[in-house]
Amino acid sequence: MEKLVIKGPTPLKGEIKINGAKNAAVAILPATLLIDGICTLDNLPHISDVMISCEILEKLGAKITWNTKNCITIDTRHIDTTQTPLDLTSKFRASYYMIGSMLGRKGEIEVGMPGGCQLGARPIDQHIKGFEMLGATVSVGNGVIYAKADSLVGNSIYMDIVSVGATINIMLAAVLAKGTTTIDNAAKEPHVVDVANFLNAMGADIRGAGTDIIKINGVDRLNGNSTYSVVPDQIEAGTFMLAAVATKGDLLIKNCITKHLDSITAKIVEVGGIVEDFGDSLHVYCNHRPSKANIKTLPYPGFPTDLQPQMGVVLALADGTSIINESIWESRFQYTQELNKMGAQITAQGKTAIFEGVETLSGSPVCSTDLRAGAALIIAGTAANGVTEVHNLEHIDRGYEDIEEKFRSIGAQINRIKT
Ligand code: EPZ
Repeated sequence: MEKLVIKGPTPLKGEIKINGAKNAAVAILPATLLIDGICTLDNLPHISDVMISCEILEKLGAKITWNTKNCITIDTRHIDTTQTPLDLTSKFRASYYMIGSMLGRKGEIEVGMPGGCQLGARPIDQHIKGFEMLGATVSVGNGVIYAKADSLVGNSIYMDIVSVGATINIMLAAVLAKGTTTIDNAAKEPHVVDVANFLNAMGADIRGAGTDIIKINGVDRLNGNSTYSVVPDQIEAGTFMLAAVATKGDLLIKNCITKHLDSITAKIVEVGGIVEDFGDSLHVYCNHRPSKANIKTLPYPGFPTDLQPQMGVVLALADGTSIINESIWESRFQYTQELNKMGAQITAQGKTAIFEGVETLSGSPVCSTDLRAGAALIIAGTAANGVTEVHNLEHIDRGYEDIEEKFRSIGAQINRIKT
């Protein structure tokens, strides 16, 4: 077991380079199963969800060569089984992308019920509806999902809710299907676009990703033989933007797509921070106490739920009363109880939390209840007076590469300690 020990307060200052996006990488890796060939993936974040994805691919028959810490070459010419290791697939959420990919590649797949952060109910009915509309049969039982299709045929699929996972999964299943698939009310997140860009670079014919109608013209084969660089992580960039504001710091955030961060920039400006946009980097600073703001999380281009806890730290320290309405996940306020242990005054009920801003937080032992909660607690610990211990690091390591090294490089006094 490990914990992070943080001594604050420290205004974070300096430069930080953003890694490739976790939520794109964990979809692109299964997408390589659709390729009857070899491809190289660059800018892959070195995080535990990526490692587990690679392990599953290898168990299915893929051959992976690590060129550098962030670059692999993957040979998916010989995929010889349709059974994934259930213990591994049930360890994280994105294992559900094995279903769309393997339906396309082999017409059959068995995976463990996806795990991941406990954010409330995480149904997959829209994924299943999409697979069935393409001609697959899907059964769920005993913690296992089994899907099979003799052939997949394109169809028009209307998504009842905007779902990142279902949009990507249906796109994966449709790439090698016969005819054209249309996904209506599709998710528009940058990682949806990145998966489509990856598949197109490998030979697919996907149009409209990034809008709410995606059209996939089925092709016979994906050849690979190409190198693809994963899009910079919108959420990691947003995490450091908000860390700059919460700690009254000054950061140059490099290797990001600033357009993806518009909703965060708007809120930072609203609370009194300054954001300078250089196209592929952002300069964010705030030398005073942030002011209050109200937030409602929404699918892209709205304010992302995956930055709600980090924004919560800013509002916990803001001058005045703020309200966050979480519209995606019903249990994403667990971190507020941890912040309250540090002196915050937050009342959370259902999907709404009221933040009575306090001037300072004080260090305390806290528990990372999920991935983004963990990032928020590191920010809070850096802003707080005294020593904060963050426990349950396995959540944080699933999604942030070298998090403590990165925080240390911009001034944080943070150490990982074995307990
Ligand atoms: C993705 O989860 C991300 N995970 C999440 O990031 C992120 O919070 C979420 O999208 C929303 O942006 C990955 O990409 C691996 P959804 P996903 O399907 O795809 C409901 C992080 O911290 N829904 O867009 O599972 C669902 O309950 C993680 O990096 C259905 O009702 O989310 C939710 O209310 C956590 N039926 C809403 O839709 C379905 O079939 C959006 O979920 C699917 C989803």
